Amino acid sequence: MTTAALPALPTQPPSGCPFDPPAGLARLRIEEPLSKVALDDGGWAWLATRYADVRAILGDTRFSSDTSTPGYPISGMTGGGPRPGATRGFIRMDPPEHTRLRRLVTRDFMVKRIEALRPTLQKLTDELCDAMERVDRSEHPVDLVKALALPLPSLAISLLLGVPYEDHDTFQRLTGALLSREIPEEDRGAARTELLTYIDNLVETKKAEPGDDILSRLITEQYDIGELTHDDLVAFAVLLLVAGHETTANMIGLSALTLMLDRETADLLREDPSLIRGAVEELLRFHSIIRNGPRRAALEDVEVGGRLIRKGEGVIVAVPSANRDEDTFPDAGRLDIRRPNAQHHVAFGYGIHQCLGQALARAELQVVITTLLRRFPGMRPAVPVEEIPFRTDMVIYGCHALPVTW
Ligand code: HEM
Repeated sequence: MTTAALPALPTQPPSGCPFDPPAGLARLRIEEPLSKVALDDGGWAWLATRYADVRAILGDTRFSSDTSTPGYPISGMTGGGPRPGATRGFIRMDPPEHTRLRRLVTRDFMVKRIEALRPTLQKLTDELCDAMERVDRSEHPVDLVKALALPLPSLAISLLLGVPYEDHDTFQRLTGALLSREIPEEDRGAARTELLTYIDNLVETKKAEPGDDILSRLITEQYDIGELTHDDLVAFAVLLLVAGHETTANMIGLSALTLMLDRETADLLREDPSLIRGAVEELLRFHSIIRNGPRRAALEDVEVGGRLIRKGEGVIVAVPSANRDEDTFPDAGRLDIRRPNAQHHVAFGYGIHQCLGQALARAELQVVITTLLRRFPGMRPAVPVEEIPFRTDMVIYGCHALPVTW
């Protein structure tokens, strides 16, 4: 098929409105909720923009997550983020491998486990906030992304994976380099290689001396009996690290900025911290940071929303559009932390690949936002919003940096 006549995949937010989904999605949702879009590599894919269609696609295993499935729309997916190469995690697998591997770590991310981690998340957040408070006024503004949004998820994942405390600096330097735009591509490539080597060595260390963490458990319960290979272990670590890190960090940054700009909502939350759970769901819905995915390829002909998607055709699911669908979320463009059905958002996806780390992400966001509101009531952006570098160039939306003062 010639793609010359097709519109490009919308990726840029409307001018002057950094929190809104890419321009063009709202129109498509109304006029052509399943439409064909051109991709940068000369190919094309279906773009699903309506909430009901997005759930139908993500909930249907006739759509494959395996990037090697014919038709899988891979173009533009990496967006400068980490490219782990051979270490394909189960996020890019279909059943039965996906089911087998995901099951091995499900219990580590169950709500009960994560709730037990909450005091630790609070302690880590408090320590990062203490360090921010110690910054001399002459050194303001402080970059909230560097000071809090990135380190917290990094520390949390390090802890779960069993990265030794003394390696935290290395680990944060490498993951920070992977996720930064300010660093040239070749240096990011070097950071990626160094991180893979680091994880490889970490797995070796854990094999020799298992501790009380996910990697060690996978080694003693699965690797030692031949159920997992060394490469599987590395793939687990890379997936959990990458999936759990950039996403939450960007949600922390965007949430903090939103509440700095929306004083009324911030005051409401400060006065009644019990609103925080609903507020986090609404922030997840409102921001929908996964900008042009998840993606799938049809394994069979499937009808969705009255259109036929043929075997071998690719599909891009527009989460930001689905979460602003007025049929499901009336007055969807408004941030309303008391919205009764905010938790029905698809910011964590839907179906068998629905985010494994959602309880952790929720707990991190709840702890960080509550703590920031309490400890830094006067925090504000140190530059006009137009000068904040938003991640319009990335698959995962957010801020590259967020200069703040108080
Ligand atoms: C999957 C979003 C935080 C681990 C997903 C998917 C989405 C998502 C949309 C589905 C991908 C697909 O269907 O192809 C988010 C957002 C987060 C977040 C918005 C933060 C605000 C985390 C955290 C972890 C994590 C903290 C912890 C390790 C994973 C994993 C998968 C996944 C392992 C793959 C699940 C599977 O394929 O079965 N996430 N995520 N995520 N997420 Fe998250």
